[in-house]
Amino acid sequence: MLTMPNLPSQKKENFKCIGVLTSGGDAPGMNAAVRAIVRYAIGRGCMVKGILKGYSGLVDHHIIELAASSVANIIQRGGTILKTDRCEEFHDPAVRKQTVEILKQEGIDGLVVIGGDGSFTGAHLLEQETGFPVIGVPGTIDNDIAGTDDTIGFDTAINTAMEAIDRIRDTATSHDRIFLVEVMGHSSGFIGIQVALGGGAETVILPERNESVENICKTIERGIRRGKTSSIVVVAEGPEPGLSSRLSVELSRAGYTTRVCILGHTQRGGTPTAHDRVLASVLGASAVGYLLAGHSNAMVGIQKDQVVLVPFQQVIGHKKSIPPELIPLSQVLSS
Ligand code: F6P
Repeated sequence: MLTMPNLPSQKKENFKCIGVLTSGGDAPGMNAAVRAIVRYAIGRGCMVKGILKGYSGLVDHHIIELAASSVANIIQRGGTILKTDRCEEFHDPAVRKQTVEILKQEGIDGLVVIGGDGSFTGAHLLEQETGFPVIGVPGTIDNDIAGTDDTIGFDTAINTAMEAIDRIRDTATSHDRIFLVEVMGHSSGFIGIQVALGGGAETVILPERNESVENICKTIERGIRRGKTSSIVVVAEGPEPGLSSRLSVELSRAGYTTRVCILGHTQRGGTPTAHDRVLASVLGASAVGYLLAGHSNAMVGIQKDQVVLVPFQQVIGHKKSIPPELIPLSQVLSS
């Protein structure tokens, strides 16, 4: 079970105000993280300012004070009250330099960035170029961040997708149909494999593994020989959108009629699960604890149920692999 780490009790004396922003794709539980950051920091005698709409809000100077009461009633809400985006302008070093002036004008002494790999790259560069203290909190439904076993939003997303599969199975069974259910995850198959296993899918297509159409057909045929009249194929989207539709065309050439269901952004919304709320609360508070103690240029993460502080250099651009043994397991269990 996840617990709080022994956070450093010392606090840099001149540290009076923390900034927080959410960046990249939103993820259920980001609000719980914002709430934890605000309330934990205030409890440690620090004020908090929220930067609206990710790095864009920093560039455009959209910054508000976050009182303890301003984060009331948000722990259960999906999305992010701070709003988010993917900011192209922040790729420019000159822009990053200007934003530090804005942070200083606001009296902000350190920044917590909740987001994924791209968001951490921006935070890392900001720190490297200007020395401004930053700590990252992993928030993405994809769970594709190296250095942490888990990310905020992943558990909610896989539960949302699994529930959808349960519903699709009802109609697939009634009509004796083959369904291709496309899930998110971009280049990473974490959502795909978990959803396939949890949803009892007949097979799963993952970006990490080249599965031929011939093999998919063989799996479907094997099922038919065993008396199965319907099949669920989980398709992890991969980097090119529309993979399930392309596969459907290829399967139809091989003689199979399929239905395609792309779950898309439904997986990003909704009430965060208890797991994501707890994870977000622990990571948010830990980020503040480490920042106040003078740590920087690192992400708080989870390894073997323990909170860890991982330098950004060991996170950014590193690939996290899906547990390979889950692939044959999902196949054996659905055969
Ligand atoms: O990174 C999270 C994610 O939801 C991916 O799974 C997906 O490929 C991508 O974001 C979609 O991004 P957008 O919302 O910008 O279309």
